[in-house]
Amino acid sequence: MRRELPVGDRTLGYLDSAASMPAPSNVALFLHAFPLNADMWKPQVDAAPPAWRFLALDLRGFGRADPGARQAAELTTGAGPNAPEAAPSIDDFADDALAFLDHLGVRKAVVVGLSMGGYAAFALLRRAPGRLAGLVLADTRAEADREEELAGRAQMLTLVDERGVSAVADQMIPRLLGDRTRANHPDIERWVRQMIESTSSRGVRDAIVRMAGRPDSTSLLEGISCPALVVVGDEDGLTPPDLARRMHQRIPGSHLVTLPGAAHLSNVEQPGRFNEAILAFLADRLEA
Ligand code: MLT
Repeated sequence: MRRELPVGDRTLGYLDSAASMPAPSNVALFLHAFPLNADMWKPQVDAAPPAWRFLALDLRGFGRADPGARQAAELTTGAGPNAPEAAPSIDDFADDALAFLDHLGVRKAVVVGLSMGGYAAFALLRRAPGRLAGLVLADTRAEADREEELAGRAQMLTLVDERGVSAVADQMIPRLLGDRTRANHPDIERWVRQMIESTSSRGVRDAIVRMAGRPDSTSLLEGISCPALVVVGDEDGLTPPDLARRMHQRIPGSHLVTLPGAAHLSNVEQPGRFNEAILAFLADRLEA
C-alpha cells in the first residue's frame, strides 16, 4: 500500500508491503529509475514474502517526495529556511533513504536499485556501508557519465525546459521498454508514461543534474562485502548485459541473473522472472 511519512518538515512517499505492525525484521528497500517513482516497484512490493517487509521510496522530486533541495538541506544539515539552496547531488537520494530508514527504525536493509536507483545505492554504499544487509544492482552501471552521456543530459535539460515532461517521456520510453514489451503490452507503456508525466519539470531537471554529477563508483565494487546480486534485461540498451557482467565480475561472491524478454525496466517488463531472481537471492543468502 502507498504510505506517507513526515520527516522533519517534508513528506516522504513510499510503498510498503507490511499491512500492520510489528513488521517482519527482514527489510528490503527499493530505489527507482529515472524519471519514474516508487510505484514502478508495485509488482515487487505486492509479491513480498511473509518473512520480508518490502519498502519502495519516492526519490527526491518524484512521486510524493517534495521537489526541491531546500527542504532536504534543512533536513540533513539543520539549516534554516534562509540558508542558500544546495545544488542537487546524488547524495541527496542517499540522505533521504537514510532518514527514511531511521524514522522507520530500520537499522539494516537489503538495497535494490534499478538504474538511477542503482546510482543512489552506490551513494548509500559510500555514505553508510554498514546499513546495507545486501545489494541488488539492476540495469545500472558503476561508471560515471562520459562525455557523450553528459552531452545527452544537456540535451535532455533543454528538452524539459522547452517542451516539458511529456517530451521527456517520448524520448525515454523507447529506451526504457523493449520493442516486444511495447508491442505486446500497451498497458505497461501507458503506465510508465503516466508515472513519467506525473513528475514535475523541476523533479526531472534536478535528477538529470544529480545523475550527471555523480562520481564514478567502480572503485567501490571490489570492496562490497555484503551479499550482492546483479540483474540485467538481455535487451537492455542503456546499461547492456556486458556492463552488468563486468560489474558482477568485480563484486566478490556476487551472482548475475540475465532476464530474457526484458530491456531496461526489467522489473516492470518481466516482473515474474525479476521476482524469482530477487526472492531466490533473499532466501538463499539473507533470510534471518
Ligand atoms: C534510468 O533508467 O534511471 C536512467 O536511464 C539512468 C540514466 O539515465 O543514466
